[in-house]
Amino acid sequence: MSSSGLSLSDHLSRQLLRLCRLCGVADTGSALSMLTNLLGPAGPRPLSEPPLWPSDVSDDHSPVEFSLALDQGRRPTLRLLAETLAAEPGPLSNRQAALGLLDWWATRYRPHLGRFDQVRDLFVPGTAGAGRFSLWYSLVFGPSGPPAIKVYFNPTVGGVDGAGERVAEALHRLGYGAVVPALLHYGTRAGRLDAVDWPIFFALDLHDGPDARVKVYLAHEHATAATAARAARVAGIDGTQIETFCRLAGGIDRFHLRPLISAVTFRGVAAAPRGYSLYLPIRAYVDDDQQAWDRVQKVAARYGHDPAPIGAAIAALTDRDLDAGVGLIAHVALRLAHGDAAGITTYLSSEAYAVTAARRQTAPTTTHQHHTITTS
Ligand code: TRP
Repeated sequence: MSSSGLSLSDHLSRQLLRLCRLCGVADTGSALSMLTNLLGPAGPRPLSEPPLWPSDVSDDHSPVEFSLALDQGRRPTLRLLAETLAAEPGPLSNRQAALGLLDWWATRYRPHLGRFDQVRDLFVPGTAGAGRFSLWYSLVFGPSGPPAIKVYFNPTVGGVDGAGERVAEALHRLGYGAVVPALLHYGTRAGRLDAVDWPIFFALDLHDGPDARVKVYLAHEHATAATAARAARVAGIDGTQIETFCRLAGGIDRFHLRPLISAVTFRGVAAAPRGYSLYLPIRAYVDDDQQAWDRVQKVAARYGHDPAPIGAAIAALTDRDLDAGVGLIAHVALRLAHGDAAGITTYLSSEAYAVTAARRQTAPTTTHQHHTITTS
């Protein structure tokens, strides 16, 4: 097994550069420097050392995950999701590191922090302990200029108990409070946000364009496709397509291993939700990535997208056999919005630290990785 001295930053930079080329992202300088900013002290660490912190961004605790969004009539859009860590990582120091990064970016990229400041005290309370994470960022790479920045808050930061109120209050402050009864009625089975359907993320675009989005994500434990289809009605969207998508991508009726996650999207000043997305953790419902890739191709075809760029993105990330592991394709999402054709997003792991063993193989296989994660 090679340890070759590669650092986390070397590994991810190489992947990012290849993906930028694939997606026609011209400003690779900003892309790479913002990746370096995001990685902070984790970046220079050799991959032979364990992850600095057990980030929940990916299964192998890599603090970065890539995604590719396909939309009708556009080139694929590259994005990445990342958790910034402190040199001495911990819930509070990681939060400070993330806030410090935003301050730094504010001096260079001028993110719009109006909405962020309106809700920040709800999700980033002064003293309370942090949960799984405090703040994640995503970068959305356009054809030119630096990427747009999106922030993810953790609604369960002070425990799942207050998460529903926190999200409702945030929606009210941002002018979207009218949705709350529908969120409870259609989005949850128990009529509450602290039971089987609970808020897992609250996300904001940090720009002030008319299409700046706010998204509320709900995790649906042990859900069926019908649960998700019903949740689409929060956004006034017919859930039939959601059921088809769940069947094609999930291959089963009840998603009991990892939750389906839905998101209701608001845009600009319109009080009514604009769209609905469903994230299916496909890696929990396949034996290996070959099976996931086969399904993703079917999903893409069903919604009129050419799957070739996803295949190219996979090839840009790894040269391992797809049936030698599972989890490279972490999620696949269907995005529905009023007046738009359905979009598809595929979430791809960097596998910087490990490949999860395929489920039916006899002996675990690792490629360049230093650990094999075995899950049941
Ligand atoms: N790794 C976590 C999970 O699978 C969080 C996460 C990363 C996630 N990327 C995501 C959740 C995309 C939904 C969609 O839950």
